[in-house]
Amino acid sequence: MTYSEHLRLGVNIDHVATVRNARGGATPDPVRAAILAQEAGADGITAHLREDRRHIGDADIDRLMEALTVPLNFEMAATPEMQQIALRHKPHAVCIVPEKREERTTEGGLEVAREENELAHFIAPLRDAGCRVSIFIAAEQRQIEAAHRIGAAVIELHTGAYCDAHAEGRFDERDKELERLREMAQFAHLLGLEVHAGHGLTYETVKPIAEFPEIVELNIGHFLIGESIFRGLSPAIAEMRRLMSEARA
Ligand code: PXP
Repeated sequence: MTYSEHLRLGVNIDHVATVRNARGGATPDPVRAAILAQEAGADGITAHLREDRRHIGDADIDRLMEALTVPLNFEMAATPEMQQIALRHKPHAVCIVPEKREERTTEGGLEVAREENELAHFIAPLRDAGCRVSIFIAAEQRQIEAAHRIGAAVIELHTGAYCDAHAEGRFDERDKELERLREMAQFAHLLGLEVHAGHGLTYETVKPIAEFPEIVELNIGHFLIGESIFRGLSPAIAEMRRLMSEARA
């Protein structure tokens, strides 16, 4: 199998909507942020429509589908409501994530191995509609094998444990997580899956992940939106792009 030289950056704009929703008005507009991100070098835009609509809302998805020229990666839980919405819009990619109301963010990966039959049925119509189906999972062999068996085209490896260990100064653990991510990226690539990664990535943690030749896309949100307060959205994205390209070179 061949490796891709260009590492794609998907910018997740959920937390622009978080700030908007804190006041209940129309600003800041996540669609405006998505257009700016696309101009600043994002290869795709990611938006997670949660069941509770805590950040992105249905109208945002309508407007993103209209406005974007880069692909939309539509993140969603495996529920009938979300499946219907995805089938109506037919975004370029659909990323299936676990979702709990009480969590602050997507805490773990999807338990594909335990819900294999249900998920296989769930993703079939999405695939038939032409969406690239991605499954967000922990870097575990049994989850990767299950994602492969159900016919997903893509897996996205959860980098949260690696990033948390780095942020909390648990460097031995961080290095173990990194090694696990490396091995599992290789394993998934050998199975023929396209490999993405994301969650919690920052300027400090992106480089070692970007160096894995099997990974073709990183999805990054919270850090970039936060950093844009200090340097502006376009420069924040440009710096992430630069670090990713440097690591890949
Ligand atoms: N990838 C997936 C599947 C996610 O659920 C998230 C968080 O919504 C991200 C990437 C981006 O994580 P972060 O906002 O921490 O960069």
